Amino acid sequence: MKTEEKLLLRALRGETLPVPPIWMMRQAGRYLPEYKATRAEAGDFLSLCYNPDLATEVTLQPIRRYGFDAAILFADILLVPQALGADLWFVTGEGPRLSTIQTAKDFGKLGPAEDIHETLSPIYQTVKNLRESLPPEVPLIGFAGAPWTVATYMIAGRGTPDQGPALALMAENPALFEKLMDRITEATIHYLSRQVEAGAEVVKLFDSWAGSLEGLAYAKYCTRPTAKIVSRLRERWPDLPIIGFPRGATPDGYAAYAKHTGVDGLAIGGEMDTDWAVKNLQPEVCIQGNLDQALLVEGGPKLISETKRIVSAFSGGPHIFNLGHGITPDADPNNVQRMIDAVREG
Ligand code: CP3
Repeated sequence: MKTEEKLLLRALRGETLPVPPIWMMRQAGRYLPEYKATRAEAGDFLSLCYNPDLATEVTLQPIRRYGFDAAILFADILLVPQALGADLWFVTGEGPRLSTIQTAKDFGKLGPAEDIHETLSPIYQTVKNLRESLPPEVPLIGFAGAPWTVATYMIAGRGTPDQGPALALMAENPALFEKLMDRITEATIHYLSRQVEAGAEVVKLFDSWAGSLEGLAYAKYCTRPTAKIVSRLRERWPDLPIIGFPRGATPDGYAAYAKHTGVDGLAIGGEMDTDWAVKNLQPEVCIQGNLDQALLVEGGPKLISETKRIVSAFSGGPHIFNLGHGITPDADPNNVQRMIDAVREG
């Protein structure tokens, strides 16, 4: 099948389609019984990420069950810090933990950006497996965390409600902060390049904590590193479709991101006003989003009416149907099917 027939790629190239392609953030995840079974077989989350056969299997599970229009590589944004030499582990029920970067000495323990590939080679193998096993009409999305979001975890050693430790390092030791940002940026370019070489057809940058950057800091540490990653990838792959997700950014922040980073697709959270996005963002880029993921827990008429409202609002331009953030473990798998039917019924 010709790539032009893949709906997701057509939307990202700017086409307005009669029915938007659909996929979901965290579509391979704990709301699915088959995911939980494979994760148990792997032992733990990181072992699952680094096992190409099992990571391929969990990536395919939501495609088989629902026929989504795109698959997203099963991995995690925190594998890059681990490949740079940070310790990484997951505490059940709490989330990720990493060794912290607070001083020049901590930074000195990290390896060079180009040395990440040995640790990450199982991920590239998963990408290769997926390109062989995905149905021909389903493109594969590779991904990485954007530098700011990855830095927040590396500095604090965990997720934080307000990214306080990273903002403090930025204020107190800007030289060290920038060195860390540059190292992550370079590693991300290496990592995404290998994913594309292995067969990823689209890449997505997750800047989940973009919302805690304000003003000049947002321009310096969200849009600028993103623009750098995009332009370096485009030097090698001029037509590579790229989706960016500056989650929680202000409307102006989103508009600047659409204008200055060079992304083709912009993922918007559930908090973003749909009509504002239609008017101010969709003329520049393909919009992805923005159904509130909580509706997949609740279900009922609101799930259907909200789904249809979003499809209809974005129907005049390029749109990829998705959630505002990842699906949660307590979501009902039947509600996912109801949402898909509501999108595809028109
Ligand atoms: O979307 C997908 O299905 C692809 C795989 C994927 C995962 N994480 C798998 C995962 C992707 C794209 C990510 C991105 C990611 N990871 C982000 C950015 C997107 C976002 O959610 O804002 C962030 C911030 C992380 C870091 C991370 N990984 C956290 C904070 C957690 C713990 C929270 C939680 O949900 O448990 C993870 C774990 C994680 N990553 C899980 C999955 C399926 C759950 C692990 C499990 O099975 O226990």
